[in-house]
Amino acid sequence: MDSIKITGGVPLEGKVEISGAKNAALPLMAACLLTEGELILRNIPHLSDITTMANLLVHHGAELTVATSTPGEGRTLHLCAEHINDTTAPYEIVRKMRASVVVLGPILARCGRARVSLPGGCAIGTRPIDLHLKAMAALGAEITLQEGYVEATAPAGGLRGAEIMFEKVSVGATENALMAASLARGTTVLKNAAREPEISDLAECLVKMGAHIEGIGTDTLLVQGVKALSGAEHSVMPDRIEAGSYAIAGAITGGNVLLTGIAPEILGATLAALREAGIAVTEEAEGIRVRGKGRPRPLHLTTAPYPGFATDMQAQMSALLCLADGTSTINEDIFENRFMHVPELQRMGANISQSGNTITIRGIPRFIAAEVMATDLRASLSLVIAGLAAEGTTTIHRVYHLDRGYERVEEKLAGLGARVERIKG
Ligand code: UD1
Repeated sequence: MDSIKITGGVPLEGKVEISGAKNAALPLMAACLLTEGELILRNIPHLSDITTMANLLVHHGAELTVATSTPGEGRTLHLCAEHINDTTAPYEIVRKMRASVVVLGPILARCGRARVSLPGGCAIGTRPIDLHLKAMAALGAEITLQEGYVEATAPAGGLRGAEIMFEKVSVGATENALMAASLARGTTVLKNAAREPEISDLAECLVKMGAHIEGIGTDTLLVQGVKALSGAEHSVMPDRIEAGSYAIAGAITGGNVLLTGIAPEILGATLAALREAGIAVTEEAEGIRVRGKGRPRPLHLTTAPYPGFATDMQAQMSALLCLADGTSTINEDIFENRFMHVPELQRMGANISQSGNTITIRGIPRFIAAEVMATDLRASLSLVIAGLAAEGTTTIHRVYHLDRGYERVEEKLAGLGARVERIKG
């Protein structure tokens, strides 16, 4: 297993181009299962989670080709599921990546049945899929659980529109329901739908494919089902979590970083938190400039669905607040076990205590380099951020987590002047 070595203390300076969003690309790729036509997706990031989704789609019968990348446009994927010859999403793939579950809605809607492995536990909590299943049941599907698999069968004549009230905001369940409803008979209303920009990106692509969706960007989505969808061309939105992570990396090192290829609007809560912490964030024609100076001010944050402060930014922000001039608190309200970065940051000198889903961070002047272990995707980046600010050389083990969600991370950091090196294991 590879590890990453970072020798900290260098203020990051320069431009970093933000890649296409992993969390938008994954459901967009799954949307190819809704049509016999060709879906062309631009700005696809080069990540192992994307490869996992590609393997899953090929398993279902889709044909995929990767076109050579256009500079500044990421890679282009051509996806065509003219025939779906296997409606089962197998455990070997789903266990690697929970987001595989988003094939359920499209396959069920198109083929009238789908069999998807239950994803099982995950490092950041139990993460059930009950909301996905309730949505499919509301659209008329019969759901049974057998030998670790969800078996969903649509009624004769296919799924039918319904009013679905999500009892909890769920990104994945909203995506599954939106895709299934696009091919259902009649009207579907999704209430208390997630409003993450990645959902709007998916909805906009579905509209290009011929879907009728109103209320995009709100918590109520009205979908008028159609008989068939066609191919389309769509460019994946930029990754707001990657952008927020580089913003924090720039800030913690007292650097001056320009994030290009992303507009500030979708980074609202992250940029607001950085500004409140005393970090200079300015909008320029080319992108967002972030300048750190001295120790940040402490913050009190609670994670929430969009447009609130994203749980996917919590670990990175924890790292920044470790060096704040005072005591901060972070409430993790989305996932019950998303503090695995805490013991690792403690190995680097952080003063953090945890009580239930709240951590209290007493600021220290600097991190001390150590050997640490990446435990999940965002936690990994919090260790990179700490390493960039630490005295000495930090080694981060198990960086395969990073490769799932951060494109060319060492190259991008090195481009900003960081002393970083991958050790092949
Ligand atoms: C997506 C993102 C992930 C992000 C999360 C929250 C992708 C590929 N992943 O994950 O990076 O951290 O949104 O912003 O886009 N829940 C249930 N039952 C369900 C589904 C979810 O109880 O059927 C709960 C979850 O356990 C969690 C909360 O709802 O507590 C939100 O989860 P959800 O929004 O569904 O997250 P994901 O779509 O899995």
